[in-house]
Amino acid sequence: MVCFRLSPVPGSGLVLLCLVLGAVSSYALELNLTDSEKALCLYAKWQMNFTIPYETTSKSYKTVTISNFGTPTYNGSICGDNQNGSRIAVQFGSGFSWIVNFTKSVSVYSIDSISFSYNTGDNTTFPDAKDKGILTVNESVAFKIPLNDIFRCNSLSTLVKNDVVQNYWDVHVQAFVQNGTVSTNEYLCEKDNTTTTVAPIVPTTVPSPTTTSSPTTTPSPKEKPDVGSYLVKNGSDTCLLATMGLQLNVTHDKVASVININPNVTGYSGSCHPQTALLRLNSSNIKYLDFVFAVKNENRFYLKEVNVSMYLANGSVFSFANNNLSYWDAPLGSSYMCNKEQTVSVSGEFQINTFDLRVQPFNVKDGKYSTAQECSLDDDTILIPIIVGAGLSGLIIVIVIAYLIGRRKSYAGYQTL
Ligand SMILES: *[C@@H]1O[C@H](CO)[C@@H](O)[C@H](O)[C@H]1NC(C)=O
Ligand SMILES: *[C@@H]1O[C@H](CO)[C@@H](O)[C@H](O)[C@H]1NC(C)=O
Ligand SMILES: *[C@@H]1O[C@H](CO)[C@@H](O)[C@H](O)[C@H]1NC(C)=O
Ligand SMILES: *[C@@H]1O[C@H](CO)[C@@H](O)[C@H](O)[C@H]1NC(C)=O
Ligand SMILES: *[C@@H]1O[C@H](CO)[C@@H](O)[C@H](O)[C@H]1NC(C)=O
Ligand SMILES: *[C@@H]1O[C@H](CO)[C@@H](O)[C@H](O)[C@H]1NC(C)=O
Ligand SMILES: *[C@@H]1O[C@H](CO)[C@@H](O)[C@H](O)[C@H]1NC(C)=O
Ligand SMILES: *[C@@H]1O[C@H](CO)[C@@H](O)[C@H](O)[C@H]1NC(C)=O
Ligand SMILES: *[C@@H]1O[C@H](CO)[C@@H](O)[C@H](O)[C@H]1NC(C)=O
Ligand SMILES: *[C@@H]1O[C@H](CO)[C@@H](O)[C@H](O)[C@H]1NC(C)=O
Ligand SMILES: *[C@@H]1O[C@H](CO)[C@@H](O)[C@H](O)[C@H]1NC(C)=O
Ligand SMILES: *[C@@H]1O[C@H](CO)[C@@H](O)[C@H](O)[C@H]1NC(C)=O
Repeated sequence: MVCFRLSPVPGSGLVLLCLVLGAVSSYALELNLTDSEKALCLYAKWQMNFTIPYETTSKSYKTVTISNFGTPTYNGSICGDNQNGSRIAVQFGSGFSWIVNFTKSVSVYSIDSISFSYNTGDNTTFPDAKDKGILTVNESVAFKIPLNDIFRCNSLSTLVKNDVVQNYWDVHVQAFVQNGTVSTNEYLCEKDNTTTTVAPIVPTTVPSPTTTSSPTTTPSPKEKPDVGSYLVKNGSDTCLLATMGLQLNVTHDKVASVININPNVTGYSGSCHPQTALLRLNSSNIKYLDFVFAVKNENRFYLKEVNVSMYLANGSVFSFANNNLSYWDAPLGSSYMCNKEQTVSVSGEFQINTFDLRVQPFNVKDGKYSTAQECSLDDDTILIPIIVGAGLSGLIIVIVIAYLIGRRKSYAGYQTL
């Protein structure tokens, strides 16, 4: 049995609401949050329940499920903006609360973290709890949704943190709603989207006629990816330039798949703003691969964020994101260059190896790269500096040729997209 004491009702003291488990299904929660101009800024409708184990005074453990939220309040929910992010805050029962935070970047918004607080001092829900007090479980989610899309997930999503089980289903949510109207573009969770038809990424493409049991036993020959040239325009002016060979390294179910991006079949787009710039690549296997650049200290740029969503062998969509990167740092008005192989580590499961890299995300003049700041060189490289006097300008161009020595680590699969 789950009981909730609801907020005081005038004249009747505390109302006690008790439910027999299983007899009553949980109710949908719904929130239409509006900004100071009364325009809708966040829409959410969802169902959830929580299962909480707790220790009793008799040193045994009990489990309680909370699935009815009575008449919740949404105090502390905020619309947010580029700086502050958005938030849904729900209060229910006595001392229970649920908070989900959203942040916004150039092309996506993300469900950042979900935090659930429960009050074991609530004697009706936890009558015999040994420790009384408010406990919080906080889970970092980092799930990205394209800006201006509504996220839908009718399927069940389960989070488990500190033995507290959180179930979510029939979820509809859009933060940072534009122009006061909920989007008609739906972004589905993997479980809801059953129409995946694109060619999957297979962990290894090395044909192995003798065995099908282990794809990790046949290390493939290493090939450098082809170098692609990408540019983004602002009106008719080029505002972002990138030249690079890209190799993705995805570890899924403990198998690393190494995928070279073939520029011949890779599309690109993006956008430029004063403080941020976006380069987005896509192909039949890559829904999107975003490089987001930012300005820091008003005089340097760097690669701040990488978001990727790609299709895997089983047809599922794999997404990684990190908006706290610090790569490819160079002064504004110059470009960043690194010919040797460099690794951008987006997460433990997703890395990007770059080759013959040159990028300039800001202050591009006449569609050309400005002078390059080169990457610092590792100890295991041999440097052959060639100094060339450059005629009238008197510039000295230093060409550094770096030969990488040292073995490559072996890897499980290899494939060209
Ligand atoms: C939110 O807005 C929708 C559409 O206008 C409406 O159907 C729904 O009843 C509203 N829900 C709440 C809780 O205000
Ligand atoms: C909690 O939600 C899950 C998933 O919808 C459901 O299977 C379970 O019966 C629910 N529990 C309660 C007590 O409502
Ligand atoms: C929420 O805010 C309303 C008024 O804005 C207030 O009456 C109510 O007590 C608040 N509820 C909680 C749980 O803070
Ligand atoms: C962000 O929040 C802080 C504190 O709540 C507030 O002072 C500030 O104005 C907010 N920023 C914006 C851009 O709304
Ligand atoms: C949400 O953001 C607020 C303010 O930035 C922060 O105090 C709170 O801890 C965050 N909550 C979660 C669950 O991340
Ligand atoms: C809960 O029960 C304990 C012990 O029975 C009591 O000391 C405490 O005051 C009760 N708390 C509430 C909120 O009723
Ligand atoms: C929850 O975790 C996130 C990141 O892990 C953090 O930003 C947030 O402040 C935490 N919130 C609470 C209430 O602890
Ligand atoms: C919002 O309105 C502006 C101006 O009317 C328009 O340019 C923009 O495309 C609209 N955005 C959406 C998502 O409808
Ligand atoms: C469903 O997945 C397909 C590819 O698998 C994708 O193209 C489509 O945009 C997805 N649909 C939705 C509504 O998310
Ligand atoms: C891309 O196209 C060029 C020119 O057509 C060709 O030489 C190159 O091999 C192609 N690269 C790949 C990986 O298919
Ligand atoms: C984009 O073009 C507009 C109009 O020419 C200009 O005002 C703006 O500064 C440009 N933005 C960037 C980031 O180059
Ligand atoms: C791919 O990632 C795995 C796991 O991080 C690593 O062991 C392996 O060396 C990487 N391979 C390449 C080619 O980067």
